[in-house]
Amino acid sequence: MKKLIVNDLKIERISENHNLKEFKSYEQELTNFLMEDALNNQNHRISVTYLWFLNTGELVGYVTLLNDRINLEGDLKDIFRQKGIQYHSLPALKIGRLCVDDRFLRKGIGTMMIDFSIKVAFHIFEKYSGCRFVVLDAKRNATNDPIHFYKKLGFKELKERKKGTTPMYLDLANNVKFRV
Ligand SMILES: CC(C)(COP(=O)(O)OP(=O)(O)OC[C@H]1O[C@@H](n2cnc3c(N)ncnc32)[C@H](O)[C@@H]1OP(=O)(O)O)[C@@H](O)C(=O)NCCC(=O)NCCS
Repeated sequence: MKKLIVNDLKIERISENHNLKEFKSYEQELTNFLMEDALNNQNHRISVTYLWFLNTGELVGYVTLLNDRINLEGDLKDIFRQKGIQYHSLPALKIGRLCVDDRFLRKGIGTMMIDFSIKVAFHIFEKYSGCRFVVLDAKRNATNDPIHFYKKLGFKELKERKKGTTPMYLDLANNVKFRV
């Protein structure tokens, strides 16, 4: 299947002017979030949602970002203790929601939205504020398991969970390159 490239797409911050009606995902909860909560949460400064459009205007995906922190536990705690860092938690950018429209799956859009989020996290650090990790909760169910997708992009499991939600992180200090 032919992959898209960044130049095929444009990114816009969600606003009341956007028409979201055509967007459809097999993960109904993520369609509902976009329709019902994304703009409202942004208006309350809880999160920011970036809509991804083809240059022809079709909405193909969205990613929602917010500030977060990661609790240092287990191996991660040991790694930072060895560096002399004693904090219980460290600052992170969270990918709160990530979803590609069903008609556009496996065309590289999810990967580009992750790369965009990593770039935002680097930008926050370089220009404004501490940010060591990108974090997310991978939601797994009987029909959908995005863990492989995230691992391929460099994310690690914070805690292994057999089912349900798996917290994952990417350490920005380790071998991450800009792809956007
Ligand atoms: C997970 C999701 C964002 C991936 O987006 P995408 O644009 O289809 O992914 P990409 O085309 O960038 O895929 C990159 C690689 O990830 C892996 N991958 C992607 N989707 C996968 C899946 N469903 N199962 C297994 N591997 C997958 C593949 O290795 C793929 O490379 P390939 O197509 O060359 O084999 C998309 O499937 C989606 O929106 N799903 C519904 C919502 C969801 O699960 N969101 C995440 C909630 S935590």
